[in-house]
Amino acid sequence: MNTLGRSFRLSILGESHGPCVGILLDGCPAGLALDPADFAADMERRRGGGAPGTTPRREDDLPIFQTGVHQGRSTGAPILILFENKQVDSSAYEAVKSIPRPGHADWVALKKYGGFADMRGSGHFSGRLTTALVAAGVVAKKLLAPARVSARLLEAGGSPDIERAVAEAMAAQDSVGGLVECRVRDLPPGLGEPFFDSVESLIAHAVFAIPAIKGIEFGDGFQASRMRGSQVNDLLEDADGRTASNHAGGINGGISNGNELVFRVAVKPTSSIRAAQLTLDLKTNQPALLSMGGRHDACIALRAPVVVEAAAAAVLADLLMLEGLLPRIMP
Ligand SMILES: Cc1cc2nc3c(=O)[nH]c(=O)nc-3n(C[C@H](O)[C@H](O)[C@H](O)COP(=O)(O)O)c2cc1C
Repeated sequence: MNTLGRSFRLSILGESHGPCVGILLDGCPAGLALDPADFAADMERRRGGGAPGTTPRREDDLPIFQTGVHQGRSTGAPILILFENKQVDSSAYEAVKSIPRPGHADWVALKKYGGFADMRGSGHFSGRLTTALVAAGVVAKKLLAPARVSARLLEAGGSPDIERAVAEAMAAQDSVGGLVECRVRDLPPGLGEPFFDSVESLIAHAVFAIPAIKGIEFGDGFQASRMRGSQVNDLLEDADGRTASNHAGGINGGISNGNELVFRVAVKPTSSIRAAQLTLDLKTNQPALLSMGGRHDACIALRAPVVVEAAAAAVLADLLMLEGLLPRIMP
């Protein structure tokens, strides 16, 4: 359903053009200092800072603590954090009820929910919901310290010249994808399980919840399939498990090995583009041309790194709790 995790559990809620989006966090230990100001930097990163290629929608993204926080500290009860949607303009979305966007979730939403889904601003499928995920990430990152999670955009449209790739796509009324790398330092060894709860499985599970993520690789990932064992094996250097290289990306046998955790995710190009594309008019069953208006990111990947950090942090906080290594935040 819409819930992730076992000990540190989050449930995501809301729609892009409804009153709010939000996150319900269960399992956060009591005593964690939480102030709206703690969320500002990550919220700004998710907004994209107004960079060319990011949506012109400007929400204030102020977290409203509804439950579970009292006098600036978590109480141990479930924490409900809401973000109001104020900059709502649904005018471009009437059409997608009968003329679904190619590549987006319109057709599956219409089919699965029998026409009852909120289609305004892509409803529950919208990237707007990642505001809530980023909020969970802020809390999870605090719990994880001294381990640090950081992600960045390596390239857009296959090029390290990100600005140029985005500008060219925009000039063509098109969109472009990107590659995000996430690294986690100072993670203890021993997290995860050999099979279904491997660190890779759990991170992939969380990361694929982020709309528009289409691929993930850990360490050398797909490149390893083209290499030899002698090139890929990480040689053990000390009794703490430090290795001379890190082709494995910090995981062996599904379990963190104490080296840096490294993974990369592929973000697809935004589906909603101004360039006209053929789709189907579901009322007439005839082909129809669609040019999507509204406020869209030309490059979702520009805003994705902080969302990827949040997904990874939520999983790792959960794993640390399961191993009895959290909380370490008591005053
Ligand atoms: C931060 C963020 C912003 C997004 N902005 C847009 C957007 O402006 N327009 C759009 O069509 N899709 C956008 N998306 C992606 C869609 O939500 C996503 O493509 C859609 O729900 C279908 O899911 P899928 O691409 O994973 O199949 C965004 C995703 C994220 C993570």
